[in-house]
Amino acid sequence: MDNRPIGFFDSGLGGLTSIPHMIKTLPNESIIFFGDTARTPYGSKSPETIKLFTEQIGDFLVNEGVKMIVIACNTVSATALETLRNRFPDIPVVGVISPTARVIANTCTKHDKIGIMATKVTVSSGAYEKKIKEKNSEIRVNTIACPALVPLIEEGIIDNQIMDLTLKYYLDDFITTKNIDTLVLGCTHYPLVAENIRKLYPDIKLISSSKEVVEAIRIELEKRDAFSDRKAFDNRFFASDLSENFVRMIETILGEDKDSLNINFKNLDI
Ligand code: DGL
Repeated sequence: MDNRPIGFFDSGLGGLTSIPHMIKTLPNESIIFFGDTARTPYGSKSPETIKLFTEQIGDFLVNEGVKMIVIACNTVSATALETLRNRFPDIPVVGVISPTARVIANTCTKHDKIGIMATKVTVSSGAYEKKIKEKNSEIRVNTIACPALVPLIEEGIIDNQIMDLTLKYYLDDFITTKNIDTLVLGCTHYPLVAENIRKLYPDIKLISSSKEVVEAIRIELEKRDAFSDRKAFDNRFFASDLSENFVRMIETILGEDKDSLNINFKNLDI
């Protein structure tokens, strides 16, 4: 039994998309979420910069006394998972690429034409191809970098023609030329535009992984006998820039008013 909180982080607000399922599935667990809204997006930065930012966030979460770190960001999972594991050898670190690759390996076959949408860094890391190959070597995937999506989502430009045009700009040719029938949301911001994608491409199957990520957390807690037996803290949310949109998105994603959520500013730039 371990009543310490679990630390989640993302480059911005995307990682919040896994929190509702987390709260529903493991309601006794307390959460500390950090969104690096002042420095988002990470997806076009160098791996060295991402590693440095990740170390700063890891230090912050560990100082807050977390029992586990969840990298709720594909870009960081692709570049800095080992950096965190090496820095905190006693704290389990769960990334999002392995759980997403598990969903792909379990639900797709070699006949599926799979397209993975992600940031530039995630695409150029080849992390998805590597993880999927480990789980099912017959499955082939195509990847596409969609760098304009995260800044638009962070701005709250979602239910909007600009978002639809941007999605079409990236996906129309990709889907046609590669005959894509399955699209993987390889960035934790993208579930926030899943409805736009569904409307634009109603016949395409969408894969996202927040359930699988929570299952990976549950397995890790079980392995270590580290479940919490009661809610010891209220969930706490931190951001390096408390933009109006970040606060509004927390309210939207969690379905609660900002006054009932514990939202704080935390600058990690040193
Ligand atoms: N949510 C992050 C991911 O899953 C977005 C990265 C970014 O900031 O570009 O990759």
